[in-house]
Amino acid sequence: MAKFVTPENNKKAVFPVFPVPIYINRLTDDREFNQELVQKVETLRNSDPEGVEICKKEYRNGYTSFFSLNQIQKDAEFSEITEQILRHGRFFAQTMGFSTENPPLNLTTMFGTITSKGCHHELHRHRNSLISGTYYVSANKTSSRISFLDPKAGFRMHEPGGQTGQTIFSNLEFSVQPQSGLIVMFPSFLEHRVEMQQNDIPRVGITFNLDLIRDEDC
Ligand SMILES: [Fe+2]
Repeated sequence: MAKFVTPENNKKAVFPVFPVPIYINRLTDDREFNQELVQKVETLRNSDPEGVEICKKEYRNGYTSFFSLNQIQKDAEFSEITEQILRHGRFFAQTMGFSTENPPLNLTTMFGTITSKGCHHELHRHRNSLISGTYYVSANKTSSRISFLDPKAGFRMHEPGGQTGQTIFSNLEFSVQPQSGLIVMFPSFLEHRVEMQQNDIPRVGITFNLDLIRDEDC
């Protein structure tokens, strides 16, 4: 009789293919830098009555300069964080197999966001972009999380149930808890949402989109 291996003895027989990359890294622990950046985002809001007005309809209980001042990467006030986002963005793009030289990786939009209590952001994708992300300027362990959905979810026509537990192959959703100093990046096609902010302390972030695009086309 032939000898057969038992499947349990080879844990490496099942391996992930086509994984979705999410970049999560601490960009800095410098509290002073983050405090100054919070003030800059607040100054941005205070100088943007048009954006504040739009947000009353489009971003309830919060402020984002996405609709009004979404080119802050060109503002000298934000030059230091811009440089760091590009640096981490290039690394992430290269890890995904992209060349970031010609055309270079550039910020196409960058905007400040203040998520106050009761604010949330429904499921969405960032169109016409390669990489999207947020640098969390001010957040703590109870700030609203960002949740990503499995891009294969639409193919799950057959869901028999009976799963014995969550594995990397069955997870439908993956959430990240923001913290001050954390940078999170993901492929722009990945659907995500921001849960309801329950915390009285507003969550402050700088959100951005990156693409491989010539400098003169930015
Ligand atoms: Fe988003």
